[in-house]
Amino acid sequence: MKTNLYPVTIAGIGKYTPETVITNNDLEKILDTSDEWITTRSGIKERRIVSGNETGASLAVKAGREALEYAGIDPEEIDLIICATSIPDNLYPSTACEIQRDLACSNAAAFDITAACSGLIYGLNVARSFIASGIYKKVLLASVDVHSRFLNWEDRGTCVLFGDGAGAMVLTRSEDEHDDILFIDIKADGAKSEELKIPLSGKNCPLVEPNTFKLPHVEMNGKEIYKFAINTVPESIKKAVDSAGINLNDVDCFVLHQANIRIIESISSKLGINREKFFVNLHKYGNTSSASIVIALSEAIKEGYIKSPSTLVLSGFGAGLTWGTAVIKWRG
Ligand code: ACO
Repeated sequence: MKTNLYPVTIAGIGKYTPETVITNNDLEKILDTSDEWITTRSGIKERRIVSGNETGASLAVKAGREALEYAGIDPEEIDLIICATSIPDNLYPSTACEIQRDLACSNAAAFDITAACSGLIYGLNVARSFIASGIYKKVLLASVDVHSRFLNWEDRGTCVLFGDGAGAMVLTRSEDEHDDILFIDIKADGAKSEELKIPLSGKNCPLVEPNTFKLPHVEMNGKEIYKFAINTVPESIKKAVDSAGINLNDVDCFVLHQANIRIIESISSKLGINREKFFVNLHKYGNTSSASIVIALSEAIKEGYIKSPSTLVLSGFGAGLTWGTAVIKWRG
């Protein structure tokens, strides 16, 4: 069922990753691990992590500036900034408000959404809804996560997998009849929320009860997340492609959440689609959570791996548990 009043254009894209590179060999110096284990189990060779004064907002601002320049849109034209992040710099204000300040998007409303590694797909759906309904014309969608500050660097089962990074897209009301968003499927299964989380415990008022404050860090049931991803994502992709009125073979490129090469290979084989159609850059950045799809998409476009026009499938999965797939046209 077509509910859009107005078609949507993906007008710009950008990414930014920190300059500090941590290789698998670097991790061997602080953990009982090896380049061989990390490479064969995940495909990751190195990751970028923040240092000094870098924050999630500062990474997202750089990605956002690149996306605005790509779109040829001035910051004050933006009506709304949505930031998909599960690791905000502050509980409040939102990261989106800090992006609004630093990009000087003086006319934009701003808020964050939390959907972990599915954040980009959830954010696309929210951004699209605001434009398609006629409420706003120009939306900046940023996605950023800085996992390195919320990892237990003594837990080899989690800390080797993640990296920091940001991406951004500019979505606008189309000036022609073409809608770049063909279909978006988003879902959640809160019953499995314990399988992957960063628990946050505040400190109760001492008049109520004593409380032991614990520094939050990633806690993950890796095997369950693996099974969840390889079972759920292929179904979500098939449903979204079908609902978009196309066939899997019509898709020019699949850009999946960059968590683990074995997950991507399993999904490609379950779908019966050649692995060459799946863009992969997780060996360079690790799992950058909500940012990974847009970092990969931006890189694939810059490298000429994705040409215009193309039909693309973007698919994410992660904590919540959440997952989602977007079928889009790239005409940038
Ligand atoms: N280096 C060396 N050995 C390790 C390491 C490491 N970094 N980590 C674990 N091991 C050991 C374990 O201790 C275990 O040893 P044991 O057999 O002596 O007990 C052995 O390796 C096997 O460990 P498993 O956990 O069984 O390894 P598995 O094959 O399941 O791979 C992995 C682990 C890579 C985490 C896998 O389960 C996975 O990819 N899961 C999905 C995780 C994921 O993608 N998470 C993020 C998605 S959601 C989001 O993005 C927020």
